[in-house]
Amino acid sequence: MDASLNRRSFLGSVAVVAAAGNAFGQAQKSPGLTPAPPPAPPAPTGPFTLPPLPYPPDALEPSIDAETMRIHHGKHHAAYVNNLNAALAPLIAGGLTVDPDIDVFITKISTLPADKQTAVRNNGGGHANHSLFWKLLAPKGKGGEPSKDLVAAIDRDLGGMDKFKEAIEKAGAARFGSGWSWLIVTPEKKLAIVSTPNQDSPLMGDAQMEKNAATGTPILGIDVWEHAYYLKYQNRRPDYLKAIWDVVNWNEVSSRYAKAMQK
Ligand SMILES: [Fe+2]
Repeated sequence: MDASLNRRSFLGSVAVVAAAGNAFGQAQKSPGLTPAPPPAPPAPTGPFTLPPLPYPPDALEPSIDAETMRIHHGKHHAAYVNNLNAALAPLIAGGLTVDPDIDVFITKISTLPADKQTAVRNNGGGHANHSLFWKLLAPKGKGGEPSKDLVAAIDRDLGGMDKFKEAIEKAGAARFGSGWSWLIVTPEKKLAIVSTPNQDSPLMGDAQMEKNAATGTPILGIDVWEHAYYLKYQNRRPDYLKAIWDVVNWNEVSSRYAKAMQK
């Protein structure tokens, strides 16, 4: 039995004894009982908040099941937001001004104190990536088609739609551990497929990025963390990557492509 279990067992015993004392009317008379501790302070509520899903949790079935969506959004994404706010709270109390646009904020991580950068990188990236991911998906039949300009760019830079899909699936399947597969617009206004580890974003564009994780503007991102697919697909990540095409919001991807080309 480990130390924490021993401690839990001990505390449980104390609780039972205290309850028994109460039942016999003895607890109120004992001067030695420790008063209940004050409630934990509430988690920081800002500056970032969890955005609502833009559709019901079951809207992406059968590609992505409702339970996965509930946990992914309500637990995992929520945790990234809470942890990010918690990491920033002492800095904000010390006078830090935070850009409320998470996509802008994560480009400035290197300006933060060194001991905060990892927490902000992981949780800020998690918040940015998931906020984008929900918008890039849509119920089957509701996501439209890629714009003519986007199709032309895919033909020009990636060898056509079939090769593009094959390449982004391959990048996601090959990602060791957890991460993302992306379609980005590079600073040279070309399309490229890259993969990032953990919750790194192509927007971060710093020295900590892997060599193959070229920086740019993400216009499509596929979450390949196990939490995104494991309930339905277990170890079959490639099957998840194929099924997700039915729920890509091409209207959103096309709009993001047009904006990235105008930057
Ligand atoms: Fe995720």
